[in-house]
Amino acid sequence: MHRPRAATVRFGNRIQGMNQGDLSRAAEILRSAGRVVAFTGAGVSAESGVPTFRGAGGLWEGHAVQQVATPEAFHADPLMVWRFYDQRRINLTKVRPNPAHTVLARWQDRFPSYQLVTQNVDGLHHAAGAREVVELHGSIWCVRCVGCGHEREDRSAPLPDLPPRCSACGGLERPGVVWFGEYLPARAMALATAAAEACDVLVVVGTSAVVYPAAGLVEVAASAGGKVIEVNPEASQVAHLAEVELRGPAGVVLPLLDELVGDR
Ligand code: APR
Repeated sequence: MHRPRAATVRFGNRIQGMNQGDLSRAAEILRSAGRVVAFTGAGVSAESGVPTFRGAGGLWEGHAVQQVATPEAFHADPLMVWRFYDQRRINLTKVRPNPAHTVLARWQDRFPSYQLVTQNVDGLHHAAGAREVVELHGSIWCVRCVGCGHEREDRSAPLPDLPPRCSACGGLERPGVVWFGEYLPARAMALATAAAEACDVLVVVGTSAVVYPAAGLVEVAASAGGKVIEVNPEASQVAHLAEVELRGPAGVVLPLLDELVGDR
């Protein structure tokens, strides 16, 4: 069955009228690319049923960031912070990667050089089969002792004890995510920056690009001569840097784009 052309493409309301020319242009850029970086945010997990942070129904709409996502909040009330993260972990056990995650995992074998960089802590890129993911904001499945720094992976949801205690020193453990006001993991940021500096194409998927230093990666890529392709139903803060803007849900747009890129 032939897929209908541009003006009549119907994939739900969001991408009605998405320009077929833009999709072909993006595919053309990717077909000739050697070094590709994919940079993702919460929007890539939206179609899996994971709420984004900002915008209607976003996590920060229902929770004050200062009360649940800062070291000060954890210091003041570790149990309340853990209840917030434990509930997010429980919710994540009920979701699965969507086609956007699948395509971004498949690209690790499609391009000579490929780096998947995410702001997400949900682990869905790995669950979709991505082997190497630079997790700039850590992982919700990791816990770290605030006393001795011991880190471990713990996928139990709910956690048996809240707040959890370190098996090594008995200290308080915290979620292994990056909170507002904290530095990003140095190795992850260095890997992501080097990949952005060297890339031919950076595909930015599902981020509002308002949180730094992560959002700065798009500027790094663009100013180093990399072509930026944005996949997002709405324009992000870095849309002006994009060579091509694909306005639609990632779980629909990326499989279409991948099909057009085809076997290189
Ligand atoms: N496909 C693609 N993009 C989508 C989809 C979808 N199906 N649904 C929503 N989006 C887009 C929105 O238009 C928005 O631009 O995803 C973006 C989500 O933006 P935010 O909620 O701000 O999430 P993100 O950019 O990942 O936030 C950055 O902020 O709160 C901190 O640490 C947290 O990593 C997070 C960081």
